[in-house]
Amino acid sequence: MCGIIGYVGRKSAGGILLDGLQRMEYRGYDSAGIAVLDQGTIWPLKRVGKVATLTRAYSENFRHSGTIGIGHTRWATHGGVSEQNAHPHLSNGHRFAIVHNGIVENYEKIKQFLQEHGYVFFSETDTEVLINLIDYHYKKNPAQSFIEAVRKSLRHVEGTYGIAVLSTVYPKELIVARKSSPLLIGIGERENIVASDAAAVARYTKRVIYLNDGEIASVTADNFSISTLDAGAPKAVLHELDWEIRDSELEGYPHYMLKEIFEQPTVLENAMRGRFSEDDCSTKFGGLPITLQDLRSADRILFCACGSAYHACLEGKFWIEKFARIPVDVEYASEFRYRNAPMGQHTIVFVVSQSGETIDTLAALNEAQRRGYRVLAITNTVGSTIARAAEAGIYQHAGVEMGVASTKAFTSQLTVLSMLALLIARTRDMDAIAGQQYVRALRSLPETVKEVLDLSVEMQALAQKYHHYKRFLFLGRQAMYPIALEGALKLKEVAYVDAQAYPTAEMKHGPIALVSEETVCLFIATQRTFWEKTASNIQEVRARGAKVIVIVSDDQIFDERPYDEVVRIPAAHVGIKPILSVIPLQFFAYYTGILLGCDVDRPRNLAKSVTVE
Ligand code: AGP
Repeated sequence: MCGIIGYVGRKSAGGILLDGLQRMEYRGYDSAGIAVLDQGTIWPLKRVGKVATLTRAYSENFRHSGTIGIGHTRWATHGGVSEQNAHPHLSNGHRFAIVHNGIVENYEKIKQFLQEHGYVFFSETDTEVLINLIDYHYKKNPAQSFIEAVRKSLRHVEGTYGIAVLSTVYPKELIVARKSSPLLIGIGERENIVASDAAAVARYTKRVIYLNDGEIASVTADNFSISTLDAGAPKAVLHELDWEIRDSELEGYPHYMLKEIFEQPTVLENAMRGRFSEDDCSTKFGGLPITLQDLRSADRILFCACGSAYHACLEGKFWIEKFARIPVDVEYASEFRYRNAPMGQHTIVFVVSQSGETIDTLAALNEAQRRGYRVLAITNTVGSTIARAAEAGIYQHAGVEMGVASTKAFTSQLTVLSMLALLIARTRDMDAIAGQQYVRALRSLPETVKEVLDLSVEMQALAQKYHHYKRFLFLGRQAMYPIALEGALKLKEVAYVDAQAYPTAEMKHGPIALVSEETVCLFIATQRTFWEKTASNIQEVRARGAKVIVIVSDDQIFDERPYDEVVRIPAAHVGIKPILSVIPLQFFAYYTGILLGCDVDRPRNLAKSVTVE
């Protein structure tokens, strides 16, 4: 949930740390801080609020140009949002400083132990306990190496951590370590950068090494060495980042969310590139180690995910069950990990996670593997923990998603899942002609999405008209129900308004009690099949005073006069229609959030990837 960074090299560390923090701010943004070692002293600078506030304070007051330092953007877990609780935390005597992502679960016990040894604490955080434990172990044997003092301390820690530690005693070295919290080393020219996130290092180097759980590393300007907590020597694997620095820049857009909505044609093109079969009747995924026979004999597919990725999986269920006729279960990862879900002998498990770091999804993956199942991942983040823990998987290739509310990553997940449904369907019931039509639809997706993006102005006008309403109901049937869920989630996330989603007909079984003159009902009704039924449901809410926005396809011809608003998207194959249908809802959430004065890129209380339980 927090972003951490460390720099050791020959340049002034402060500016590099702040640049990295700004690029990782989507990870957490209630406070931020840096600490630079200069002339034998650690100089911290922390501020409550956004990185911009810290950057201002840095330009006004900070005069320390040391070439080694650490930084942090925080999403509070232990202790409220205050400068005192912000990272970096210093040990008593200021010999050590730390930035930490994760939770030290046994911190009370360690704190008590340290208090008995004379340590005093100035914050409410678990992190301050950890840095003083390091100091304690250092003092027991000042002749030992830096890495040894940290290693000894970590052996006593229960919980999760990604840490970077700085010290006046070892002025040329940073120590980093991880357990269930991402950490990578960016290898530069006579400089190295450690971070929780590739976005923070991509500007300086594309060569990175991802630490594995239980690994600890010493990093200097010219070198690094990785070992394990029990002093083993793991093999370091060098990865090449495929992220472009422009991905994490606004490029003229007022917000990342809007930029990422408009990037969707390219993103979807990238998700599909090279993934159609030679005969153009099916798809193929290079990274998928399962054979066509495996797919044909699968008795069940299980998807585990959270949030928007969970909604994408619900859509995947619809497509796979409709076209491939395999039963599909979709589980919240956070629930699956604690329940003994019945699974078949030939169940294939997919975990879906944009960030590849969501702790619940990772735990679901571990649980399925523990039970002996093959687990494949669909993720946007190359080298992420989930990508490395899964047997194999499919990358989304959506580029960095900076907006906390997922847009382009969601539609690229949908695209990959639709292609997966086609692949499985072609091993079973779907004939070549139907396969060809499906492929044609997928190929047309980027161009059709461009047409839907033209709705931006219309959706802005609707947001203008309805943003002051108190309640929003999103209603959709079958393939449009996951889209209704996603539309409601987007509005909640970026505009903080009460938005709920139901299958359209289910609305009569309770939710209709909420409907009044203060309600806006958004019907995602882009399927011709259900139009008559939906039209009746619309009358039911209109009769109770609700305003109605209905999203339909161009091929649905009806008298529009009784509806407050009718939004049209191009008619399309059901394999891509849900992808088109969500885009107007993304715009609606974005513009409503803006009109209500919300920070749409960094909504309150949220963080881009949820790495704590
Ligand atoms: C979506 O807008 C969210 N911010 C959130 O629901 C997200 O989809 C969820 O936390 C899962 O994240 P992941 O895809 O990185 O695992």
